[in-house]
Amino acid sequence: MGQKLSNISEVQVVRTKFKPILPEVLKGGVACVSPVKGKPTQSVADQSNVKKFFKNTYGLPIVTFKNGSNLSVKKKKPIKVAIVLSGGQAPGGHNVIAGLFDGLKKANKKNTLIGYLGGPLGILENKYKEINEKVLDEYRNTGGFDYIQSGRTKIEAYEQFCSTKDNLAICHVDALVVVGGDDSNTNAAMIAEYLKQENIDKCVIGIPKTIDGDLKNQYVEISFGFDTATKIYSELVGNICSDANSSRKYWHFVRLMGRSASHIALEVGFKTQPNIVLIGEEILAKKMTLTKVVESIVEVVVKRSKVGKNFGIILIPEGVIEFIPEMKELISAINDVLAENADTVIQLSSTEDKRDFVCGKLPKKLSDLMAGLPSGIASQLILDRDPHGNVAVSLIETEELLIEMIRKRLAELKKEEKYKGKFSTITHFFGYEGRCGIPSNFDANYTYALGYNAAILILNGFTGYMSYVRNLVKHPKQWECGGIPLTMMMNIEKRYGKEKPVIQKALIDLNGNPFKEFLKKRDEWAINENYVSPGPIQYFGPANITEMITRTLRYEHSKR
Ligand code: FBP
Repeated sequence: MGQKLSNISEVQVVRTKFKPILPEVLKGGVACVSPVKGKPTQSVADQSNVKKFFKNTYGLPIVTFKNGSNLSVKKKKPIKVAIVLSGGQAPGGHNVIAGLFDGLKKANKKNTLIGYLGGPLGILENKYKEINEKVLDEYRNTGGFDYIQSGRTKIEAYEQFCSTKDNLAICHVDALVVVGGDDSNTNAAMIAEYLKQENIDKCVIGIPKTIDGDLKNQYVEISFGFDTATKIYSELVGNICSDANSSRKYWHFVRLMGRSASHIALEVGFKTQPNIVLIGEEILAKKMTLTKVVESIVEVVVKRSKVGKNFGIILIPEGVIEFIPEMKELISAINDVLAENADTVIQLSSTEDKRDFVCGKLPKKLSDLMAGLPSGIASQLILDRDPHGNVAVSLIETEELLIEMIRKRLAELKKEEKYKGKFSTITHFFGYEGRCGIPSNFDANYTYALGYNAAILILNGFTGYMSYVRNLVKHPKQWECGGIPLTMMMNIEKRYGKEKPVIQKALIDLNGNPFKEFLKKRDEWAINENYVSPGPIQYFGPANITEMITRTLRYEHSKR
């Protein structure tokens, strides 16, 4: 099997042979797909402001694909498409490439595909590789983004748009596919707008990727990778639940990835039924202070201890730190100080110096709060922001902060003779472990369809759209396909101290079915050992376990 043979596992070898199921509507290729345009659209919020940034691509209609003959597409000359994988890894990226490649080749054998290397930086530096069928075959249905790698460069400066335009022209690229989360797809929208404004006839299409699951709406029902990543975390958490229930001596604090939204923690919670699942969105809505969050955990620890259970499992979404009101205010103020004093901060060599400098610039209330935090946490809060202005929550050990505060509170209760238990803790962080897993059958099918569908959008000349594949609770053959305008998902947010149009993150809807289901169960989970061990992802075997979709998707659909 060519270059990868020596470092490919037996399972991967078998997986490369898996044939993803294409939705019926796409099966005949572009010549048999007829696009139906809906009404003009609006952005989700801040309409007039978003419109100012997207004079040429705002308000495009939703496109739905139906079967029908599309002869005009057949007559087209061969085209060259480029793909870039952007942001954090998510299982299924290679299948997006495979689907796009196969969709293009089905339309015309002479169509070609290149992959920019290392994320958007590859576009700016014009570093790419030809996607070659033989090599691609070795990556089909495998995890990781290693075929062309990824990166987090943000394309936003005028010169960067010019380089993008020039490099696309140098390579004779007719269309660019950006595989990314909310920030990367915001980038895609900006590039599409810029090219239109310059009267350059090239398409830009986005693909919804992120294990965080926060890029979704009525059309994009789930971002790819969420299914596989949550299955991997659930296997690990399920094992920990069994371990805790066997030895009955530790409280396990498990922090789970998910930069803002708590979708991952909620899904893993459904699959494993631990004692506590913190939900950032609820904490924010109830304006729960750090002390209140700690109290809510202490209450369960004490209750369990009273019946001799000095053990349990708690899931903590990594993004929770930004939802606790006083921490949110602190992080936002730190962001402003870092943005306003970037030149000074860069000169400071040690983390302690940076921390003291930032602390000195904060209003008293916030500098007191920062000074009262464990020093490790305070330092983690000022770590470099990514190019999109995001805090590195994956590096903030929120679980340690909570444990320290819980311990203090339990000691007080002990003095008051309200608690007699033992509180031994073990911490875990599951994030990177799940981002490059071998995609589940769901993600393998879904990503292949998203890529194939992107080819059809491009061949029909659409730009400024995200490829969507929906109706995902049904068999893949029945999935519906089309394009949703990128500007439709946008709102205005403050980044690096400035107002910017960005795709709005889809947080947990506290009135939605998944959260309501959770509310029905959590009190029972807190006290009992309702633990479930879902085991590893199954690729072969009975359909009820190989084709299992997420609980979140199932509950979301049950409301329709
Ligand atoms: P994307 O939104 O780009 O998909 O990345 C999400 C994520 O996996 C978060 O869950 C996590 O906080 C972050 O990436 C980690 O970033 P990095 O890979 O730069 O360490």
